[in-house]
Amino acid sequence: MIRIEHLHKTYPLERTARPAAAGTPAAALSDINLHIRKGEIFGIIGRSGAGKSTLIRTLNMLERPSSGKISIEGEDITALDNNGLHRLRQRIGMIFQHFNLLNAKTVAANIDWPLKITGKYTQQERAARVTELLDLVGLSEHRDKYPAQLSGGQKQRVGIARALANTPHLLLCDEATSALDPETTQAILRLLLDINRKLGLTIVLITHEMQVIRNICDRVAVIEAGRIVEAGDVAEVFLHPQHAVTRSMVAESAPTIFSAETAVQPSALAGITQLRGLLVRLTYVGDITYQPILSSIAAATPALITILQGTIARIKDTPYGQLLVELRGEPADVAQVFATLDQHNIRHEVLT
Ligand SMILES: Nc1ncnc2c1ncn2[C@@H]1O[C@H](COP(=O)(O)OP(=O)(O)OP(=O)(O)O)[C@@H](O)[C@H]1O
Ligand SMILES: [Mg+2]
Repeated sequence: MIRIEHLHKTYPLERTARPAAAGTPAAALSDINLHIRKGEIFGIIGRSGAGKSTLIRTLNMLERPSSGKISIEGEDITALDNNGLHRLRQRIGMIFQHFNLLNAKTVAANIDWPLKITGKYTQQERAARVTELLDLVGLSEHRDKYPAQLSGGQKQRVGIARALANTPHLLLCDEATSALDPETTQAILRLLLDINRKLGLTIVLITHEMQVIRNICDRVAVIEAGRIVEAGDVAEVFLHPQHAVTRSMVAESAPTIFSAETAVQPSALAGITQLRGLLVRLTYVGDITYQPILSSIAAATPALITILQGTIARIKDTPYGQLLVELRGEPADVAQVFATLDQHNIRHEVLT
């Protein structure tokens, strides 16, 4: 769906808030390379100022890259003229953190607006489409209200309906839920997931909240100081974060996921002061989570396995399990345990 290659963006010096050194503006984006697949929900996460908005805004050319290439559905969008851009933006919907609604227009008129400006539809066609969209986002009874009469979650629903008006192939979400309370955030995320599944729409969303990524994204890229520092399947990035920024964001949002650093803290060891064997972290992802692997291992070897801490949960639709265990036995038995874990694709890391 989207291919980003060697993308760079430097804002002109007079507009830049953080010059790298006198006379040289810092790059807002440096050498970004990403592939986003059709039909997936792709998350981009990073701290404030990391370059998230800049990156997502280059995908519909609201921000022009300084260099590099972006192709969407096979078309090089950096080479488009005004006409081409106009057509591109009809295939890409965007929703914003602060909704950006037209305050003097009703809900229905806000949703009608993008349909009207294409000049492609009759009044009846537009009215039918608006009714359909209102129903999709659950706002049918609010159609004649003005934005000021709506809650934040309702305003964001209007934003979503408006972004979907021209049946885009791609939906860009810039911090779509960060102005909302946790419950409304969940409702909006469910709506986005539903739309992704029902309409097969590709969604790129940026956020600074790991929970948003965990709830609805299939894959994620982590951006820090204008660079992608890590990217992959959400479960993999959550359970085995590689970069320090990712590790700290996972630790803040999912304290139950323990890492090599947090596992050896006394709180994780449940008061055990002296380990008699190896401290091992086991991670499994997918259907294996519900298989009785540990009991088969226990039956097959004399090694002793003590569970110190454990979690079974889900990341989007993927079940995963994480166990902190103490493993005791002769070297040959321990080796056999590891071999069995390998056979079942259970990751094992010896922490001490
Ligand atoms: N229009 C602009 N002119 C000059 N510099 C800009 C402009 N927009 C963003 N920047 C700079 O580019 C960098 C990245 O900004 P960007 O808005 O992409 O960050 P962000 O990750 O979206 O942050 P936040 O989470 O706070 O929204 C920042 O250092 C910012 O100061
Ligand atoms: Mg931003």
